[in-house]
Amino acid sequence: MKVLVFGSLNIDHVYQVPHFLRPGETMDSLAYSRNAGGKGLNQAIALARAGMDTAFAGAIGQDGLFLRQLLEDTGVDTARVQVLDSPTGHAIIQVEVGGGNAILLLGGANRCITPEMAAHALEGLCPGDWVLLQNEISCGCEILRMAKQRGLCVALNPSPASPELASWPLETVDLLLLNEVEGGDLTGCTEPQGILDGLMQRYPDSAVVLTLGADGAYYRDARQQLYCPAVPVTAVDTTAAGDTFTGYFLAAWLPGGDAAYALRLASHAAALAVTRPGAGASIPEAKEAAAFMDRTSKNGDCDQ
Ligand code: RIB
Repeated sequence: MKVLVFGSLNIDHVYQVPHFLRPGETMDSLAYSRNAGGKGLNQAIALARAGMDTAFAGAIGQDGLFLRQLLEDTGVDTARVQVLDSPTGHAIIQVEVGGGNAILLLGGANRCITPEMAAHALEGLCPGDWVLLQNEISCGCEILRMAKQRGLCVALNPSPASPELASWPLETVDLLLLNEVEGGDLTGCTEPQGILDGLMQRYPDSAVVLTLGADGAYYRDARQQLYCPAVPVTAVDTTAAGDTFTGYFLAAWLPGGDAAYALRLASHAAALAVTRPGAGASIPEAKEAAAFMDRTSKNGDCDQ
């Protein structure tokens, strides 16, 4: 089994700030760094570091070759990464004291993906292989349809939330991984239980993972609901915590379907990621995540 991440590659411009900019305000930042990011890239790194056979499809410009190199160095198959005559996507990220972030995107090459490129990128996958999508590239809806037509399984992290998602055939998604903002947009509910119930009513054949940041995460399918508390840590930068969770959950869940174990491992990997600056660079190796889980196992038990 293999997972193809079909997603975004971004150059992250990260500014440490005393507080998020207010409308009309000009402010000095405390520090700057230029990092590898993009929800697609981050999730692919998490999958690969968690031990999954991972391939990537997406697009960069000449200025983003280092992103492809990072994926390759992490063991991700980058044969489906196209270099286009367009600037690489980028993100302007404010990180405030305490680790919270605010992210402004420019899609660049991520938004130049065409249905033809998508069809080509899905060649060579076999029924039973998985495609992991987010919502930072063009043609996401078409990719979902094509993947299902080819008998592939699809995991979707519908992030960032956008009105277009309402027209995607979400009922065909096998695993939906989302936070309470995205869940609220899809269901109109604000409470976790209402979101989970609403999602299961709409998509009864899907499995759902609902992440709540410091309030933990739920897994729900037609047979069971599980809850796993977050692992308490001192946050430095929460960027890519959700991506780390997504990649680790999928890598741990796919082989045997053990959702409780996957929630626990993903929670620990995401907790480690928030203790470090950056996106792709903050994602732990599998051995580190497993050792951290062993040490803090009392904190990570899942409840039915
Ligand atoms: O989820 C974090 C990511 O969101 C960042 O790396 C940024 O590039 C945006 O895609």
